[in-house]
Amino acid sequence: MVVSDESRLSVAIVDVHPGRESAFLALATRMKQVLEGKRYCLHAQTVPDAASPSRFYDVRHWTNAEAALESYADREMNDLRAELNDMAMVTHVLIGSQTSGELRNENRRTLIERDRRAGFDRRLEDLGRSQGDLRGDKDRRVGPRRTRARAVNLLDAARRARENAVAPFSNFKVGAALEATDGTIITGCNIENATYGLTMCAERVAMFKALSEGHRSFTRLALVVDMPAPTPPCGACRQILWEFGGDLEIRLANLTDDTGTHRLKDLLPLPFDQRLL
Ligand code: THU
Repeated sequence: MVVSDESRLSVAIVDVHPGRESAFLALATRMKQVLEGKRYCLHAQTVPDAASPSRFYDVRHWTNAEAALESYADREMNDLRAELNDMAMVTHVLIGSQTSGELRNENRRTLIERDRRAGFDRRLEDLGRSQGDLRGDKDRRVGPRRTRARAVNLLDAARRARENAVAPFSNFKVGAALEATDGTIITGCNIENATYGLTMCAERVAMFKALSEGHRSFTRLALVVDMPAPTPPCGACRQILWEFGGDLEIRLANLTDDTGTHRLKDLLPLPFDQRLL
């Protein structure tokens, strides 16, 4: 295998809906053919998890960052990704499409962060503490170190989006910024109306905009309000974010500070989704 300095690696955990494993493997073969045939990837591999029959790891060795990005604009690939999202929950662990040197370091840090996260989760289990107990400054040090450069951009984007909120009834302005796997940031703000009930939250505006622009896989969401306390997504938004974004990292903030980072699976335990249909 030829490997240049430009090549990038992506890894995704694919949890296939029960009963769809053989369909997934057939799809994985088609994806590999397109990714390698069109030279987006030097090598695309799907590795089964020995301990869990419905879990696989999609490993993409991209030709370079541009090729990875091009694959996200490729209609054939996007059709295949849509099929994949119908039969599996995809969690991106390492993303190889970023281009700058700074982001190259971010890729390494994402892996480190995963390790820290695993340790963090274990410690939580050991302590037997609930999510709510974790809030507050004193606990920050036990969490994973954040990937600062990307996170700051995402928070800034959410803060800017918040300025566009249409919230004349509640005066509660919310901004959201959703990061797609290819690094694109899609923003949203809450939009209220005179019947109140047709109000749309910032998170869903961001997600629906992203879907309508063709994005199908996401890594994290930032949510900004002007409140000192952490303001997590409402229940309806958790459901939509889960169904279309999977186990996103949810970063909460106000105009000046971070107020907490969570995984969506922790905010929406025992979810209802298409695996149950
Ligand atoms: N809101 C959001 O935009 N996101 C949430 O997750 C919670 C609530 C908006 C809806 C409404 O415009 C205002 O905040 C007050 O509920």
